[in-house]
Amino acid sequence: MIVTPVQRRLLVVDPCDDCYELLPGLRAAGWEVDSCTLAAVGERSCDVGLLRLQPYHLERPEAVKELISRSGTEWIAVLTQEVLRLQNVGDFVCEWFFDFHTLPFDVSRVQVTLGRAFGMARLRGKGYTAVDEPEHELLGDSRPIRELRKLLSKLAPTESPVLIRGDSGTGKELVAKTLHRQSQRHAKPFVAINCGAIPEHLIQSELFGHEKGAFTGAHQRKIGRIEAANGGTLFLDEIGDLPMELQANLLRFLQEKQIERVGGSQPIPVDVRVLAATHVDLEAAVAKGTFREDLYYRLNVLQVVTAPLRERHGDVAMLANHFARFYSQETGRRPAASAKTPWWPWGTTLGRAMCVSWPTACAEAWCWPKGGKSKPLIWVCRVSRQFRRRWLHWKTINTAPNARRCAMCSTGTATT
Ligand SMILES: Nc1ncnc2c1ncn2[C@@H]1O[C@H](COP(=O)(O)OP(=O)(O)OP(=O)(O)O)[C@@H](O)[C@H]1O
Ligand SMILES: [Mg+2]
Repeated sequence: MIVTPVQRRLLVVDPCDDCYELLPGLRAAGWEVDSCTLAAVGERSCDVGLLRLQPYHLERPEAVKELISRSGTEWIAVLTQEVLRLQNVGDFVCEWFFDFHTLPFDVSRVQVTLGRAFGMARLRGKGYTAVDEPEHELLGDSRPIRELRKLLSKLAPTESPVLIRGDSGTGKELVAKTLHRQSQRHAKPFVAINCGAIPEHLIQSELFGHEKGAFTGAHQRKIGRIEAANGGTLFLDEIGDLPMELQANLLRFLQEKQIERVGGSQPIPVDVRVLAATHVDLEAAVAKGTFREDLYYRLNVLQVVTAPLRERHGDVAMLANHFARFYSQETGRRPAASAKTPWWPWGTTLGRAMCVSWPTACAEAWCWPKGGKSKPLIWVCRVSRQFRRRWLHWKTINTAPNARRCAMCSTGTATT
């Protein structure tokens, strides 16, 4: 089985000689290491940070706090004997750092701490999504996709909020990533939050962050998703599911461009572009009183609608090949037969229709033998479970007209 190693980026700030000696070992352990001074951190991003604390950092701690807040990840302090003697260093490190090390380094302990910090950052979802990978490409050559690409290239450079609408599974998140990738903000974080997937009592702190001790269980300061997206793009998925109370807070942030962490009293300026997506009818929600009208207008400055697959017939083969390749790589299996294989019925109405009606009429279609051979059936058995799950996801775009068309196909009477 092919296991793709997870890329782990470490940024070492204000390194000392002991830090430099540590770096080759960390590189050998799979860390991609970068180092710089605190003043030069600028645009750099990382999954975990290591900062050698110096007396001047503690005299003017704002720069360190700013670095840690903005990075949106976990930091480990490196403490010299000189710094350890300073007053308040303990409180400062406990409040702002994930862990600390004293010099000289215990190399194996450093590796364990870095791994834990990396895991914690991921668990908390503090790290942001990289959007440059090929799986975030909007595939397809059908007219709706070509028009969508053209529209996105026009909207991406603007700073206005975009409301992305469309059926479930039609690529709304991919559209958001494309907008970010093509924007001026592409080098900054893309932070996504699914407003419908987070319990109501946690979403305030998830979005806005909290101060240490803000509520029972708030053992550490937490940077919210909005703040973590500073300079970049915030993608609010399933915005229609945001509770009313949070809608008011979000609106305030959109108007004032600053937030307050839960339990905090300092307004924090944040510069993000907001993209939101929904598959629900927001106008109906506004009419019903479950979605604030003022927030609706704030988010709906520009609008993009994603087309369902049933309107993008030409894309089916390309997407099928893409997912077959993707999941066979993931499972370490040989890529499944391509759309060019003679028995593959993509080019036909049946092939197109089955994509929107798996697993019912499609199940028959997959097993449809050509020339009396049962090859497609064998193929079906080899399709990975994830691949099938994906098709089930796509099934959500099935509609009555398509189902009808598919039913007709299986009797061999339909054309499109
Ligand atoms: N045009 C496309 N090119 C490549 N992959 C696509 C395309 N459209 C959708 N997908 C894939 O389909 C899956 C669903 O896409 P995505 O999550 O962006 O949809 P969504 O509209 O946000 O769905 P939901 O409403 O369920 O959240 C993803 O794996 C995505 O990569
Ligand atoms: Mg989505």
